[in-house]
Amino acid sequence: MKVKLAKTAGFCFGVRRAVDTVYEQIEQSQGPIYTYGPIVHNEMVVRELEEKGVRVLGTEEELAELTQGTVIIRAHGVGRHIYELLEQKGIRLVDATCPFVRKIHRIAEREEKNGRRILIIGNAKHPEVEGIRGWCRNPSYVIESAEEARNFKAPLSEKLCIVSQTTFNYNKFEDLVEIISKKGYDILVLNTICSATEERQTEARQIASEVDAMIVIGGSHSSNTQKLFEICKKECGNTYYIQSLDDLDLKTSESIRCVGITAGASTPNKIIEEVQKHVGIKF
Ligand code: F3S
Repeated sequence: MKVKLAKTAGFCFGVRRAVDTVYEQIEQSQGPIYTYGPIVHNEMVVRELEEKGVRVLGTEEELAELTQGTVIIRAHGVGRHIYELLEQKGIRLVDATCPFVRKIHRIAEREEKNGRRILIIGNAKHPEVEGIRGWCRNPSYVIESAEEARNFKAPLSEKLCIVSQTTFNYNKFEDLVEIISKKGYDILVLNTICSATEERQTEARQIASEVDAMIVIGGSHSSNTQKLFEICKKECGNTYYIQSLDDLDLKTSESIRCVGITAGASTPNKIIEEVQKHVGIKF
């Protein structure tokens, strides 16, 4: 049995960096450690960290109540006021914001100074977008759909700087930018989409088209894993969606000679390796 494991399976660069940061902090152990929001959307990882004493702070109120310890900012990033709040309180902050997200914060600051209003293409409820907005001194705009783009109105004298949530779909970004471009504003468009999601999907599609069975690993609520599953299923009817090795019930037959494996962005390496080993040995 041949096993093809996607190189892009599992954590992207930013998430891996954030999780590694938490483990480094545990080793250095300087009092209680908190993450502001779950470090990654994977219960197993969060539980493991909790067992090592890392607590998840769910709200800004909880953050405001802290009197000591270290707070780790996750890859999505946060607005400026969170940095200020922790500084005022004298709480140690360890910043694991993904550098690609941090770059958008810098763009927002710089372009506002250059007299532009920030327009973010993305989901207003997503923590990354909330964080970007938190770096704008003036009110910013957020647009997610073609309808919102068509209805968008701002004074024509306003200069705009358009950026994107890092995980936004590129084609949709282009479409929305085109709709806004036709409205006659002075706009500066900066494509801040991170290529990690697209690369993962392209590789998954490619592998699924070459194998007899495909395994997609990820949390049942992980939207990027669901998307991966849909992509793979289109290429390979024999595609399995599992959360961990326990769910794997691969129907083997003579015709399965090659199995592909990929995983969503919040799937830890450990789970991927377990599945890879099992498939390699068992079949
Ligand atoms: Fe991951 Fe950072 Fe891109 S968190 S998806 S590498 S923006």
